[in-house]
Amino acid sequence: METLFSGIQPSGIPTIGNYIGALKQFAEVQNDYECFFCIVDQHAITVPQDKIKLRKQIRQLAAIYLASGIDPEKSTLFIQSEVPAHVQAGWMLTTISSVGELERMTQYKDKAQKRTDGIPAGLLTYPPLMAADIVIYNTNIVPVGEDQKQHIELTRNLVERFNSRYNDILVKPEIRMPKVGGRVMSLQDPTKKMSKSDDNQKNFISLLDEPNVAAKKIKSAVTDSDGIIKFDRDNKPGISNLLTIYSSLTNESIKDLETKYANEGYGKFKTDLSEIVKDFLVNFQEKYNEFYKSDKLDDILDHGRDKAQKASFKVLKKMERAMGLGRKR
Ligand code: AQP
Repeated sequence: METLFSGIQPSGIPTIGNYIGALKQFAEVQNDYECFFCIVDQHAITVPQDKIKLRKQIRQLAAIYLASGIDPEKSTLFIQSEVPAHVQAGWMLTTISSVGELERMTQYKDKAQKRTDGIPAGLLTYPPLMAADIVIYNTNIVPVGEDQKQHIELTRNLVERFNSRYNDILVKPEIRMPKVGGRVMSLQDPTKKMSKSDDNQKNFISLLDEPNVAAKKIKSAVTDSDGIIKFDRDNKPGISNLLTIYSSLTNESIKDLETKYANEGYGKFKTDLSEIVKDFLVNFQEKYNEFYKSDKLDDILDHGRDKAQKASFKVLKKMERAMGLGRKR
């Protein structure tokens, strides 16, 4: 069976964008791959975090993975900082990365630009750590949203470089993006990606938003003034984004939705979508609350940590040997 890895940062509460672009797909692939789903808390600290909030968000994210349909009997769910092989391999891959290629990463440029108090070095070295997350499980497939495509391409380059310089041991992963919903946009500025760490709450719908509040956010989402419900990302980014959300949550195709709303205005469309989002959140949060409160959550994470440690150890040792680290035994 091929291996699949994916991670989410506990840098806030995941948004409906994280759900559509990543979480929704995870539950669907569990039977087809050996899956590793990771709470990447070491990535989250590449920008300053409040320690009490971070701890809480780690647990919330674990419950969110489970509420999204991750079955701990089938998949390995764990916390990155509890499996040291990630940073160990991350350091090795950092040493073969060049500052120039890391500086070209769009996410680095975006996040660095927002820092007024100096740029943390971890923001720059984030991609080799992400590459390590992937390669230590001999990952074949990485399901992500569009924003992570560049990081996966870098991972593939680092794998080639490592294999040609040292020994041919790392597996080159393939990226997998959803057909619809790879890039859910901000509700108030649909030219910008929806992000869980956005300062403006109106820009995103968190998976733990009060459902009525989320419905209001949909109703006040920015659209254009021509009133035609048609997917056109360049010229009609607002309505195209809402169509994406609608289609992803209902599995109705965007074409079918365009036909269904051909004679309707934005008001009716937004009212319907706000109800869909509300129902989705009510249902999702019911499952979430059960997992969050359950004592089983720690058992699941302990079990996941043990499985991940065991699985990553072999590749880590091979990498160390290939680079000449430690002693010959
Ligand atoms: N807007 C989005 N649309 C579709 N997919 C998205 N993803 C993120 N935003 C969208 C996908 O969600 C997964 C987890 O992302 P992450 O937590 O590792 O970090 P991120 O990509 O930086 O996501 P955020 O929400 O923007 O986090 P912050 O605000 O902390 O930077 C990934 O698979 C990502 O592609």
